[in-house]
Amino acid sequence: MRWGGLGAGTRPAGGRRSPPGLRTGPARVPSLAGRVALVTGGSRGVGRAVILRLAAEGTDVALTYRREAARAAEVVGAVEALGRRALALLLDLRRPEDVAPAVAQVAERYGRIDIVVANAAATAFRPLTETRDRHVTQTFAISVKALLELVRAALPSMRGRPGRIVAISGIDSLQAMAGHGTLGAAKAAVEALVRSLALELGPEGITVNAVSPGFLRTEGSRFYVERGLGLDYAATVARLVAATPRRRLGTPEDVAALVAWLCGDEADFLTGQTLVLDGGLTIRSPLDLVGELRDPPSGHTPG
Ligand SMILES: NC(=O)c1ccc[n+]([C@@H]2O[C@H](COP(=O)([O-])OP(=O)(O)OC[C@H]3O[C@@H](n4cnc5c(N)ncnc54)[C@H](OP(=O)(O)O)[C@@H]3O)[C@@H](O)[C@H]2O)c1
Repeated sequence: MRWGGLGAGTRPAGGRRSPPGLRTGPARVPSLAGRVALVTGGSRGVGRAVILRLAAEGTDVALTYRREAARAAEVVGAVEALGRRALALLLDLRRPEDVAPAVAQVAERYGRIDIVVANAAATAFRPLTETRDRHVTQTFAISVKALLELVRAALPSMRGRPGRIVAISGIDSLQAMAGHGTLGAAKAAVEALVRSLALELGPEGITVNAVSPGFLRTEGSRFYVERGLGLDYAATVARLVAATPRRRLGTPEDVAALVAWLCGDEADFLTGQTLVLDGGLTIRSPLDLVGELRDPPSGHTPG
C-alpha cells in the first residue's frame, strides 16, 4: 500500500516536526483513490469493515446485502461521511443468476470496477450426515457459484487497468470443524477457484487471492457457537484466546486491513494465494494444544 505526501502539513501547530515514521496529521494520501470496489455481504461483520476500510483509502464502494436493509443504509451513510460514494444493492446470492444484473448497476453508476471482494457466506451448521440437498446447493451457490458469477460479470468493467479480486475463505477449508462440513467444502472450492482465476487473469494485471480468517468476533461466529454448537459464546471465546499464540480474537478490522493491502499497488506480485489470518491458531499441533509438550506427565521419559 502506498503511503505518502507527508510534508508541511504534518508539522504540529507551534511545535517541531515529528520524527520520521512517527508523523501524524491529515496529509496521508489515500492509496486507492479513484477506484471502485464491489463487496458482497457489506451490511455487517467482515464485509462492513472491508467497505469502511476501502472507503477510508479513497475507494467508492458498492455493497450487497440480503436482509438487513437498514444496516446497509447505515454503512452507506458511514461511507458518505468519509467523502466517498456508496451504493447498496439487495442481492440474494442463493440466486446466482441475479449477480450479473447487480454488477451491471454498479458499472452503470460508477463506469468502472477495480476491486471485487466476495465476502458473503451462509450455511446450515449441522453434521454432514444430517445435511439436506438444499443446504449444500445454497451454501455452494452463495460462496462458490457467486464468486464465479461476480468475476464473469465484473470483468468487462475491470479490463485495461490493474484489478483486484479477493475472496474471504475460512480455516474450515483446511481443518474439520463440527457443523462446518458443507461450508468448509465450499471454501476449499473457493480457494481452488482463486488459484485458477489467478492463472487466467494474471496476464491482464488482475490479481486474485483469498484471505482465510480464523475465529473472528462477529455475529456469524456467535451464531455458530451458540446455535451450531450449543456453547456459551463468552466462555468459548476465552478458551480460544488462551489457545491462540497472539492471545486475542481476530476482528473484522484485521481482515479489512489485509484485504486493503491486497487491493493496493504494493501487492501486485501476490496472486493465487490463500493467506491465513488467525493469530497463529492453526500453526499449533494437537499435542501442543493438550499441553503434553510443554508440561509432560510425571514419569514421562523423552525418547
Ligand atoms: N466470523 C468468523 O469467525 C469467520 C471465520 C472465518 C471465515 N469467515 C468468513 O468471513 C465472511 C464474513 O463473515 P461474517 O462473520 O462477517 O458474516 P456475518 O456476520 O454472518 O455476515 C454475513 C453477510 O453475508 C450476507 N449474506 C448472508 N446470506 C446471504 C445471501 N444468501 N445472499 C447474499 N448475502 C448474504 C449478510 O447479509 P444480511 O446482513 O443482509 O443478512 C451479511 O452481510 C464469510 O465468508 C465467512 O465465512 C468468518
